Amino acid sequence: MTVRRIKIIRWVAIVAGSLATIVLIGLGILYGITNQRMNRTYSVTPHAVSVPGDSAMLARGMHVSLIHGCTDCHGQNLAGKLFLDAPMVAKIYASNLTPGKGGIGEQYTDADWERAIRHAVGPDSKPLIFMPAQEFFHLGDEDLATLIHYLKTLPPVDNELPENSIGPIGRVLYLQGNMPLIPAELTDHTADHPVAPEPGITVQYGKYLTVGCTGCHGADFTGGPIPGVPPDWPPAANLTPAGNLRNWTEQGFIQAVRTGVKPSGERFSEYMPYAVLKAMTDDELKAVWLFLTSLPEK
Ligand code: HEC
Ligand code: HEC
Repeated sequence: MTVRRIKIIRWVAIVAGSLATIVLIGLGILYGITNQRMNRTYSVTPHAVSVPGDSAMLARGMHVSLIHGCTDCHGQNLAGKLFLDAPMVAKIYASNLTPGKGGIGEQYTDADWERAIRHAVGPDSKPLIFMPAQEFFHLGDEDLATLIHYLKTLPPVDNELPENSIGPIGRVLYLQGNMPLIPAELTDHTADHPVAPEPGITVQYGKYLTVGCTGCHGADFTGGPIPGVPPDWPPAANLTPAGNLRNWTEQGFIQAVRTGVKPSGERFSEYMPYAVLKAMTDDELKAVWLFLTSLPEK
């Protein structure tokens, strides 16, 4: 080998080594910053919600859990399940909410339930990963109380879930603001809880019922790519009167929800949590329809 060739090889090795070092330092910084945020502690003033105990409240609490999508992520029996699995992005499990093995039902106090649901902060004051409390902060005291009452009656289901793991791409997406990894950061924990509107077929109540749709359909309901999900997911539909809904009627909307078939004859995709809509009463759907049709055309 000539001296010249050895020099080139040495030079290539130095460049490769430096690049590897830069990548490692970058990853170190990425993990350092994100771990620090995930381990931050939040102090949340406990907010007493009186948890009533009759059977009508129990049925109402179950209804609240269905229309706000708890079952969509935590599983039909709320015993937890793998919620997001995308290589390099994240592997996240929605917790087992029952008092069974691996569940939190046994230990949770009313204050713990409220802190987790409205603030996405656990009993250890650390943020809960991906638990969309920014959407539940708005739940009225009465809905929240009936919900907690229902959750406390869940039968035990043994389901021990592995730890969550967040990969480098998930961490970058999070820092870019494209993945709501730490919902506790999205809520003002000192703000007063807004008073829920009276149930009825009103724009306000429709808005209240659709807060959970914004995680996918966007704050202005114009749809588009869904933050943080694998690339094979379809974009969420535009639900303002500029989208397909301009060709639907209230009747057509309710029928689509009841049958799963849209007025166009197309079915809802498996990515659309259609069971959430299906659990709504006709009056709730009418309120949702009224709200969606009142949105600015965008
Ligand atoms: C978009 C998915 C999603 C929805 C919808 C959702 N959750 Fe969660 N939830 C999660 C994930 C993921 C975790 C696990 C957080 C963690 O491990 O840090 C979680 C954690 C929790 C916890 C904390 C449990 C623990 O491990 O200490 C409670 C309580 C909870 N959720 C209740 C609810 C209730 C009640 C609803 C409905 C009002 C709901 N969740 C809706 C994803 C969701
Ligand atoms: C987990 C993400 C997600 C959530 C949460 C979600 N959607 Fe969707 N939605 C989608 C996706 C994806 C589509 C497009 C595929 C399809 O039409 O099935 C869609 C489509 C729709 C459509 C059909 C519109 C059309 O043009 O065909 C309606 C209506 C709808 N969503 C209403 C809602 C309402 C109301 C809520 C809240 C109660 C909601 N969605 C919550 C993901 C979501």
